[in-house]
Amino acid sequence: MTDAPPPRRALDRAALSSPSAAVRAAVASGLARARGDAPDCSELPAALARLLGLPGRLVFRHNATLALRDLALVQRVARGATAGVLVCTDAEHPAVRHVLETVWRGAGPVVALPIQELSLADDDVDAALARGLAQAVAQGPVDLVVLPHVLWFNGAVVDVARHAVWLAQHAPDAQVVVDGAQAVGNIALAPGLTDAVHAYVGCTHKWLGGPQTLGFVELAPALCDADDPRAGLLASGDVLPELGALSGLERGSQCGTQRRAVAAGTLVAVEAMAARPGGLPGAIAASRDACAALRRCLERAGAYTVLGPRAAARSSMVAFCRRDGDEAALHGLADRLDGAGFVAARYRLDGHGAFLRLSPGPDLTPDDLDAFGQLVLPRAASSVDRLAPPSSSSPRAR
Ligand SMILES: Cc1ncc(COP(=O)(O)O)c(C=O)c1O
Repeated sequence: MTDAPPPRRALDRAALSSPSAAVRAAVASGLARARGDAPDCSELPAALARLLGLPGRLVFRHNATLALRDLALVQRVARGATAGVLVCTDAEHPAVRHVLETVWRGAGPVVALPIQELSLADDDVDAALARGLAQAVAQGPVDLVVLPHVLWFNGAVVDVARHAVWLAQHAPDAQVVVDGAQAVGNIALAPGLTDAVHAYVGCTHKWLGGPQTLGFVELAPALCDADDPRAGLLASGDVLPELGALSGLERGSQCGTQRRAVAAGTLVAVEAMAARPGGLPGAIAASRDACAALRRCLERAGAYTVLGPRAAARSSMVAFCRRDGDEAALHGLADRLDGAGFVAARYRLDGHGAFLRLSPGPDLTPDDLDAFGQLVLPRAASSVDRLAPPSSSSPRAR
């Protein structure tokens, strides 16, 4: 008799969601019928907007990266041959930074405000961003500002509403776009936040346990105005073919067409999330608790540094590296986690080497946590621990 494989626990839901059986079935049936009568997903935009408390002016793209790409393309075309500055940060997700630079190439400069190191040093990222934005705006016309809501490498939360309000007053011609890929479903979105920006980008695959992948954009009313040519371009199903050629990147897609199966599966996942006890707020709170427990485990193990922002600015993500910089040992841990059924994602950060990112979601059980603790404890300590006779006077810390 062979041992059953360990159950897969997607510790990094932010990198890889693990679709439920119902979602998988919805996608499979959609794919089977992809050429004909694809499943109905017309309810998805309204259901998603309801769950997230968004106004519901949604357009869909393949994922968050392509949504950001198309927003940049639309703004570049709206500005004509010579665009002003595109301001972003050096803490954009690498895929996002790549598409922004690609789209803006030849149009105008891209200025990446330096916040990555500040965030890793637990410094005041928002104060630095406020200064950087003021400097950029003072130097000339800014056409597009892209800000991350939750940083991809440590889960720090940026006060995007504060910066959007400042930009509306001091750079009213700049389009302000927020990358909420790590925020949606992992932190509560403040009411009105998406009205303070021109476009708020999210995706569904990092938090719903839904299918990979679907990105979406919540648009400001101006971008939905039929008289604004940008509206037509963004709402189009066949996304921007001529602009795609301009950037040399592949075309995006609407959920109503090529990606209906994914959309139908996402709808199943949205409905399941809404029906959870406590709904989405309950799931967010449970994810934060799971993260706090994982951090405690890592701190107790002693060999790791949690790449943390201040406690108040933490989202539902835990990222950590080895204190001694031993990357082989970190990869060894990732392998052991994989072997035990925990799916953790490995990344590199320029200047900081390898780190692991965990986004446990709301369903981490005490048993999972116990198993995780056994894996992160240094080998010697864990075997000593196991050999030590039980003692009622010195109960083992758990
Ligand atoms: C902040 C941020 N933006 C964008 C992305 C890319 O998202 P997607 O896979 O939906 O394109 C990621 C992925 O980790 C991310 O962390």
